[in-house]
Order: sequence, then C-alpha cells, then structure tokens
Amino acid sequence: MRTTVVTVVMVMCGMMAHADVKPQKDFNLQRFAGRWYRVGLAYDSPRFVAFRDKLRASMGMITHLPNGNVNLTMWDATPVGCISRVYKYEKTNTPGLFTYFSTRHNMMKDITVVDTNYTDYALVLKHKVFNREYTQVALYGRSQTVRNSVIQKFKAFALGRGFPAASILTPPPAENCPPSGSG
Ligand SMILES: *[C@@H]1O[C@H](CO)[C@@H](O)[C@H](O)[C@H]1NC(C)=O
Ligand SMILES: *[C@@H]1O[C@H](CO)[C@@H](O)[C@H](O)[C@H]1NC(C)=O
Repeated sequence: MRTTVVTVVMVMCGMMAHADVKPQKDFNLQRFAGRWYRVGLAYDSPRFVAFRDKLRASMGMITHLPNGNVNLTMWDATPVGCISRVYKYEKTNTPGLFTYFSTRHNMMKDITVVDTNYTDYALVLKHKVFNREYTQVALYGRSQTVRNSVIQKFKAFALGRGFPAASILTPPPAENCPPSGSG
C-alpha cells in the first residue's frame, strides 16, 4: 500500500518534470540556423531496436524562413543510399518551441530546443510527454564530434526523461552522406 502511494507520487513528479521542459532562454533562430550533425539520439521505440546499430550521425540543415518557420533538411544514410528529407517546423509564440506534423505517426508533435550555445551543440526534445513510440531526444553538434561533457549532458537529460540507457545512442559519422561535393 505504502509502496503504491510512493510510486504514484513519483510518477506524478515525473510527469510534472516533463511538462516543465523550457526552451533555451532568449532563443535566437538566426544563430541556430545552418549546418548541424545529429551526433546523439535517444529513442526507445521497440520498432527501432533493430536499427540501433545502423544509425549514423546524419547531417541536418536548418533554414530560417522569412515567416519565422523552419525547414530542417536531414540527410540519412539508408540501405538504398543517401536520402534527404525536409521537415517543416512551425513557430509558436514561444521562441525555441516549434510544432510539426509527423506524417509517419499522423500526429502533431512539439519540438523544443532545450539547450544550445549555437556554436557547438544543441539538445532538442521532440514530443514533451514521454511516449516510447513518439518521443526522441537528439543531440546536435556543429561538427561530427562534440566534447565529452556535452555527450554527458545529453545522456543525463535523456535518462531524466525516462529513456533506458540502451536506447541512448551516439552513432558514428555517416560516410559520404550527403555525397562529398554536393553542398
Ligand atoms: C522549405 O520546404 C518547403 C517544402 O519542402 C519548400 O517548398 C520550400 O522551398 C523550402 N524553403 C526553403 C527556403 O528552403
Ligand atoms: C559552447 O560550448 C562549448 C563546449 O562546451 C564551449 O567550448 C564554447 O565556448 C561554448 N560557446 C559559447 C559561445 O558559449
């Protein structure tokens, strides 16, 4: 009985912590734009487990549109080659908080730039309320390697969101994706 009460309180505190994630203070989209590499990914979907070893640090390009929205172009190394996709993030009234429609999951998701210093790294939470199928934490670096202290910050954040350690990945660089010479 006592254990049950404690568990319920802990779960409620966990949920409050999730709702409490705030974007980077004074978020500046201009400084956030440009090239990033996704050097870390926390994702606990059972369907993704088989692909964990195949994950590579994809390159992404953030384009700041005149209306304040964002295009994110990602280049992913896949078994059928290097594929680029464009994701359209729409601004909200809160700087650093975007929404987008996931065609894969057929739902709206929120994108929170939790922490960035623009020149080295960015910690991004996709879908605040933890859900194994929908929630991801990504660590972006301006280069394909980031400092260990940044990796540790990413891992601690993901563990704190409820991701099991095995689902927190720091993939090796993608090879020739995008192909050298193109962009
Ligand atoms: C943003 O993405 C949309 C949809 O893919 C595309 O039509 C548009 O040209 C892009 N804009 C820029 C500035 O890249
Ligand atoms: C960004 O973070 C890196 C690594 O922690 C640090 O070396 C760098 O000085 C920081 N840059 C700014 C502008 O704070």
